[in-house]
Amino acid sequence: MKTRIIHSPDERDLKDAAEIIRGGGLVVFPTETVYGLGGSALDPDAARRIYEAKGRPSDNPLIIHLPSVGEVRKYADPPGIYFDLAERFLPGPLTVVMPKKDIIPDTVSAGLPTVAVRIPSNPTASELCRLAGVPIAAPSANLSGRPSVTTIQAAIEDMDGRADMIIDGGESEIGLESTIISLVGDPVLLRPGAVTLEMLREVIPDIKIGGAVKEKYDGRAIAPGMKYRHYAPSMPVVLIDGGDEGFYDYISEKKAALAKEGKRCGVLCYDEDSGRVDAAQILSLGPRADEKTAAHRLFGLLRSFSGVDVVYGRLPSTEGLGLAVFNRLIKAAGFEVVRL
Ligand code: TXA
Ligand code: MG
Repeated sequence: MKTRIIHSPDERDLKDAAEIIRGGGLVVFPTETVYGLGGSALDPDAARRIYEAKGRPSDNPLIIHLPSVGEVRKYADPPGIYFDLAERFLPGPLTVVMPKKDIIPDTVSAGLPTVAVRIPSNPTASELCRLAGVPIAAPSANLSGRPSVTTIQAAIEDMDGRADMIIDGGESEIGLESTIISLVGDPVLLRPGAVTLEMLREVIPDIKIGGAVKEKYDGRAIAPGMKYRHYAPSMPVVLIDGGDEGFYDYISEKKAALAKEGKRCGVLCYDEDSGRVDAAQILSLGPRADEKTAAHRLFGLLRSFSGVDVVYGRLPSTEGLGLAVFNRLIKAAGFEVVRL
């Protein structure tokens, strides 16, 4: 497939993109979280094409994107609390799982009776949703298992030849996927994001935290039954939970041990650590207290490791946006955490 790549899209380009989506094709588009790989959510075949382009198992449901809260009732049955959340957080990086209407095909919801709905705030995404006139089903635009796409370079790397069009929107503002909550039964946080747990509690004080958010992090090496990797670079990632000196010493020891086998290690850390660790490749998430920068950089950095055999990372805090960074990192590490 020949992919059209559009830099600085104008209204005409977005109309073309909308036309592609209505015709059953696929468009990679920017959002405020990460780039999405979009197709018509009303077309069962478009959903199949999305799964194929990503190399993703079709038992994983897709999020539908809409231009406004006013459209939600066409495709889902929102409970009253949805509109309180919407008033506070939408458009924006919050996706809500609700009972679905029959118009959403089973290929989009992967057979579930529910649908995940998102109203993006990114102007290109929003305008594309409006022009398409159909809900846009869009997972993150990465190949399955790889870190999500937050730059046009990564979009081209993963999706050239797999989508009809790629729209350049520059670097994704947030850099991590949307917060997902379920409003089917008791409200549950399924995936942390830029709408943080603390923010959600202001509207839903008793919201629960889903099992996959922290993966029962109890300091042991591997959480049972959750060995699949996600968001991962091509080499193993191991997270280290410990103080500064312990972390630096651990890296020195590992570096020496690996060198004996002709291997090299990379380190994913903070600005405060960069000058104090010694490794073949050292990448920083930014100042330690700056979770926004860490979120913004994480996926790009995970894609940037090369020529190293293993990456050691520091465990982030779980406060605010830190919880989302923690969640993505622990998945990239296949839940492998070493407690010093
Ligand atoms: O920020 C985002 O949410 C990005 C942009 C493109 O909007 N999209 C995104 O989609 O991250 P994806 O497919 O990579 O992640 C969506 C997650 C998947 O883990 C999926 O299992 C879950 O949402 N999901 C979708 N529909 C669901 C449903 N009905 N019930 C429970 N989980 C659902
Ligand atoms: Mg994804």
